Amino acid sequence: MIEIKKDIYWAGIKDWGLRVFHGHELSTHRGSTYNAYIIRDEKTVLVDTVWDPYKEEFAEKLDKHIGLKNIDMIVINHVETDHSGALEYIMEKIPDTPIYCTKNGAEAIRRHFHKDWNINVVKTGDRVKTGKYELVFVEMQMIHWPDSMLTYVDGANLVLSNDAFGQHYSAMFLFNDQVDNCELYQEAIKYYANILTPFSSLIKKKIEQIKSMNLTIDMIAPSHGVIWRENPLQIIDKYYEWSQDYSEDFVVIIYDTMYDATKTMAYAIGQGLLNKGVPYKMFRSSVSDSSDIITEVFRSKGIIVGSCTVNNTVLRSISGLLGEIKGLRFKNKLAASFGSYGWSGEAPKKISQELEEAGFKVPLKPIGIKYRPDSDELDQCVEFGEKFAEEILKG
Ligand code: FEO
Repeated sequence: MIEIKKDIYWAGIKDWGLRVFHGHELSTHRGSTYNAYIIRDEKTVLVDTVWDPYKEEFAEKLDKHIGLKNIDMIVINHVETDHSGALEYIMEKIPDTPIYCTKNGAEAIRRHFHKDWNINVVKTGDRVKTGKYELVFVEMQMIHWPDSMLTYVDGANLVLSNDAFGQHYSAMFLFNDQVDNCELYQEAIKYYANILTPFSSLIKKKIEQIKSMNLTIDMIAPSHGVIWRENPLQIIDKYYEWSQDYSEDFVVIIYDTMYDATKTMAYAIGQGLLNKGVPYKMFRSSVSDSSDIITEVFRSKGIIVGSCTVNNTVLRSISGLLGEIKGLRFKNKLAASFGSYGWSGEAPKKISQELEEAGFKVPLKPIGIKYRPDSDELDQCVEFGEKFAEEILKG
């Protein structure tokens, strides 16, 4: 265990080898951590646990350092099993220990564990004194589960924020001032883009509520990744920025191709963007990491998506990505579509329809080219890129 504040300890697990999360939905190139915390005050408090595969290692660590029987209460900020996975194992050893969580947390604990534990429901502003410290609970409903909450440790100026402000990032050190900040921010924005985007309007309001509570915050300790110790409010400010239709000045071209005709179109469209001075990044969806693509979509001003037509529809990597994009409910971004075809040619139109349904503004008619583009048709693709660039530059 590592002391992060007087008598408050990080008791988590580093999962250096993790490469996928949420099943296989999210890539985690730099592993992750499951951060649990121990407050050793007059009462000893365990805040959150770790993922199930690490329950024995976690329990042994707690037992060695504090003795499981000395835990007086457990705070469960969030029941997703990467944080509650060791709860049942711990509760088998200390079954009468009171658990503190939100009303939705109580329901989620019941639905996950089917046990009759001593559950104490708390809501925003409720306080529990532990000795010199006092816990203050703030519900974080739908950021990102119905049960989510954060725990503020009054007297330590510490926010135990659970998933909020976290990163899937396993590093040698524990604090933000000790790690490569490029890596840290790559992982923080990837986490936001892939997990929190749909909840952006709630995040904005929640940050405003937290600011109105006038809490003194000099450390933010999330449940994944490193702890924000140096200028901890920077990540709150970043979340506030990211929650408001965030974009940077570039476009993302995403395509998949069977015999390179659609690829040739993608490159020509990129040339059109370049002609107008609009930077772009390009991904072939079938061989790229979709979580990384989603991060770039989140950062972009607009996307141009291409697929050839197969069996009257789009290639499967594009189809999967469009589904993911729709679920994330991006706002205030432009989109366009393109693709080659042999006979029926539905793909570009389908892509545009799906992007419109996903909330993108689609200002240009989709462009489809039969079989392989000739030089005139490539010029049309360049022009298509230029027109899209003009729409981007209109702001
Ligand atoms: Fe890290 Fe929502 O669990």
